[in-house]
Parts: sequence; structure tokens; C-alpha cells
Amino acid sequence: MTPHLTASAPADTHTAWWQDAVIYQVYPRSFADADGDGMGDLEGVRSRLPYLRDLGVDAVWLSPFYASPQADAGYDVADYRAIDPMFGTLHDADALIRDAHALGLRIIVDLVPNHSSDQHEWFKRALKEGPGSALRARYHFRPGRGENGELPPNDWESIFGGPAWTRTSGPDGEWYLHLFAPEQPDFNWEHPAVADEFRSILRFWLDMGVDGFRVDVAHGLVKAAGLPDIGGADQLKLLGNDVMPFFDQDGVHEIYRSWRRILAEYPGERIAVAEAWTPSADRTALYVRPDELHQAFNFQYLGAPWDAEALREVIDDSLAAMLPVGAPATWVLSNHDVTRHATRFANPSGLGTQLRTPGDRALGLRRARAATLLMLALPGSAYIYQGEELGLPDVTDLPDEVRQDPSFFRAEGQDGFRDGCRVPIPWTVDGSSYGFGSGGSWLPQPADWGKLSVEAQEGDSSSTLELYRSALAVRRTHPGLGRGTAVQWLEAPEGVLAFARDGFVCTVNLTADAVRMPVRGDVLLASGEVVRDGSEFELPGDTTVWWTM
Ligand code: BGC
Repeated sequence: MTPHLTASAPADTHTAWWQDAVIYQVYPRSFADADGDGMGDLEGVRSRLPYLRDLGVDAVWLSPFYASPQADAGYDVADYRAIDPMFGTLHDADALIRDAHALGLRIIVDLVPNHSSDQHEWFKRALKEGPGSALRARYHFRPGRGENGELPPNDWESIFGGPAWTRTSGPDGEWYLHLFAPEQPDFNWEHPAVADEFRSILRFWLDMGVDGFRVDVAHGLVKAAGLPDIGGADQLKLLGNDVMPFFDQDGVHEIYRSWRRILAEYPGERIAVAEAWTPSADRTALYVRPDELHQAFNFQYLGAPWDAEALREVIDDSLAAMLPVGAPATWVLSNHDVTRHATRFANPSGLGTQLRTPGDRALGLRRARAATLLMLALPGSAYIYQGEELGLPDVTDLPDEVRQDPSFFRAEGQDGFRDGCRVPIPWTVDGSSYGFGSGGSWLPQPADWGKLSVEAQEGDSSSTLELYRSALAVRRTHPGLGRGTAVQWLEAPEGVLAFARDGFVCTVNLTADAVRMPVRGDVLLASGEVVRDGSEFELPGDTTVWWTM
């Protein structure tokens, strides 16, 4: 019998949404304040969801909004299943998730599994119950060294400065470990109750309808057996990426395998993204093996200077590291822990990611715009930090008395000035706190904030906001843009990057001077003015152009 001929089945063209997603980070304290107490809240976020839909992002990642004494702006969680009253209620969270979904936006929430707040029920009971108690075993309690136990159990330092141990005030005088502030005791992930609790917390939020998790300090959960001394290793830098007995231990991967199984039980491609500071892109890739988490932040990219060679190397390394594990590369320029990139690029490179100098603001903005078009042209998923679409600089002159970052108070000898990127964002040209809310703003906003507001930039085709909107719209109409695993480098003058991808070319001039190059097709979008002259064009300094071929 002649077989019935049919067209061959279409190849599986489905790409999971997260493989090329653009994810927008909302820092709830500083996004929008609906109840007028000077602090952003979930209702504020909900009211601005249409703005995020119009911006063209795929998902929103919310920094923590859980019940917390706010010793570290909510990264000290007292109850993982409750909303802090300053941010709203569980009902508000539910409404936010529903509204976001109705607008086609996904919601990713922050999960903080490395440590709890010292006001968490378990830790309060652990303190009360004393040495050897069941609750103490869920954290790292140890007797001190020295004749009377007056010295910390080992020589680890807190990421925020000072010893990583605090002595309890009880008669037993035991010490407990906190890689961050003393109000953030580290969980003991060897204890089964800790693992069980977090599996249950995952399910709680998945049942609430969230689309994924950003896993805080994903590299820190497991500590080397015996908590060995580091033996005078260099003073840690904030979230440093040196090899340490408390970071990037192989034991963390079993935890993520168990989480992946839970995520896979839920419909709708739920994901988890690792905040994992590791010594190399290859070590980061281990977190996103097919049976672990879905994405990991690319901090090597975030830390790269504005330099063609350095960026090309990071891009190549990142893509190469992800290939064997099949996870998408990710790209990020700013977040709530580092100086905004408009300010980093305004300063000489090499100063790091914690700066207090405004630098040359016009230069920083020009480079930031060019950097964004470069980032959004790369294959994989990209992260945007609230306010970068307005070209906001860091606020480098906050007076000491308004600062709240715990690292500012503990980080002697370190910079630790994360408040500068956390100043509430401006929505309107005038008005109380530039449209952030009716009750002022928990960190003071600079006097020129109104000029950078959404209202000031909307509809102005030369504005940074409109550049982001156009770039994200192009990404949507050219689906090939975020997809794939490689870029094809093209010949380019020194200091210029040029690469092709699927009918598309991106050219980036990382030098200060204009260069002449052959025209690559039609200009799709440019971060600055481009002058075409026959078969050549002039690419100004610190400018990116997207071409369609
Ligand atoms: C978060 C920081 C926080 C720290 C401790 C980080 O990775 O991004 O904001 O201070 O974890 O939770």
C-alpha cells in the first residue's frame, strides 16, 4: 500500500518564553507609592503595569516584599509567606499577579534562601532554646574560640564588613554565622527541615501564580564541611567572586535539582534565575544545567568596562559557557546592588561597580544608550533595572544621614554605597516626589529628577525612554534577535564591535572618535545620530547602530 503522503510535521519551533525574555527589575520600595507613605508598594507597582507593558518587557522581577524588619531592605525575611505591611497584603500580591497576567506580563519574585531575618520565628526560638536545641541546628551556631569562647568560631568576614559571626547575649555565649548583616543569620542547608521549608515556600508562591523566582545568593547556601578558616584571604568585596568555603560549593546543585522538579510540575514554564557570583562563566553554567535552574545572572558582563576587546571577550566566554548546558546566556548592566551603568560609564573604567563620583554625565548617558542597544542585540535573555530606561544616573551625593544600606554602616574600607541606585524613580516633571507618590520619598531625589521623568521623555523621539521602547519593539518584530546561541563577528576598526545575526547587524563604536564604515543595510535603530554618505556611514563615538540586511 502506498503510504499516504503528508507534509512533514513542522519542526518544533517553540522557544520557551524565558530563553529570550527581557525581564524588568522592580525595586518595590522605589518604584511607585500608592498609599503616600514615602515608600513604594505593591499597589503602586500594579498601577504602573500598563507602563511596563507599553515599554515592551516580557516579565517583571520584584525584589523582596515579604514581612521583614528591613535591616537589608527586605533581604532579611521574617515570614516568607506574608507581605510586609509597608508593601501591602497578600490580596494586593494576588491582584498584582492577576493584572500582570491579564496584560501579558509574567511575574518573578525574589526568594531569599541563604539566610532569614533574625526576627524569623525559627531564629527567635533558636536563641531562646539555647545550645544543642533543634532550632539552633537550622542555623550555624558554634561555640567561640579562645579561652572563654570570646573569639569568633572562624575567620570569615561578612560581605557587608566586619566579622561574619555575632555572639549571642545569652549565658551560653554561642556565636551564629551571618554572611551579610547580623540581622541575617545563615540557614544550615544540611538540615532537612530547611530544605523542606523552602520546597513548601516555592509551592506557596507557585500556587499564587508566580512565573518564577530570582534566587538570592544562590551560590551561598552550602558551606564547606567544618567551616574552615580562609586564612587571611583578601578582604571580601561586596558579593565578591573569589573561591571561598562559603561560596559556590558543589553541594548547592542538589538543592536546585530538587527545585527544578517542583517547577516542572507546574504548567506554564515557571523558571528560576540564579544570583550566583562565581569565579568564572563556566562555574556559573553549572547552575543552569538542564536539570537545575533556568538562567543565571551574567555578572562578568555587568562588570565589564566600556572597552571593545574586554566586551568581546566576555560575550564570547558567556556564549561558550552556556553552549554545553543549553541554557540561554543572560545580559545585565544594572541592578539594585551596583552603581547604575550611566554613572559607571561616566567614570574611568576600572573603578569597579561601587562608585560615588558622578563623572561626565553626558558621556555616561551616551555610552549607556549604546550599551543598551548592544545588550539587546545579543542572543539570550536581558535584564533591565528600573529607571535605566530613563537614563537615570546614580545619586552620588546622598548625605550620610539618609543612607540606609547596611553595608554603608559596616563596610569600613569598602565602598558599599548601594543607596545611590535605589532612589525612587521620577514619573512626572513636577509634583510631590516627581509622581512617585504623594508623601515624599524614602531617599531624597535630586533636583533635576523631573527632567528625567517618564512624563518629560514620553513622545520625545530623542529620549532614552523612547529608545528603549523602540529597541524592545524591534526585538519583538525581529524574533531572531534574542534567540540563538552565537554572534558572527565582522571585521571592524579598532575599538569597534560589529556582529551579524540572522538578517541583522549591530555595530558599536566604543571609542570617543567617529569612524567610517561600510553601510550594512538599512538603519533599524541607533543610539545616536548616524550620517550616511553613499556606501559608507559615519559611526559617532560611543554609539550603537542596528541594521537590517
Ligand atoms: C542582594 C542584596 C542583598 C544580599 C543579601 C544580594 O545578593 O541582591 O541586595 O543585600 O543578597 O541578601
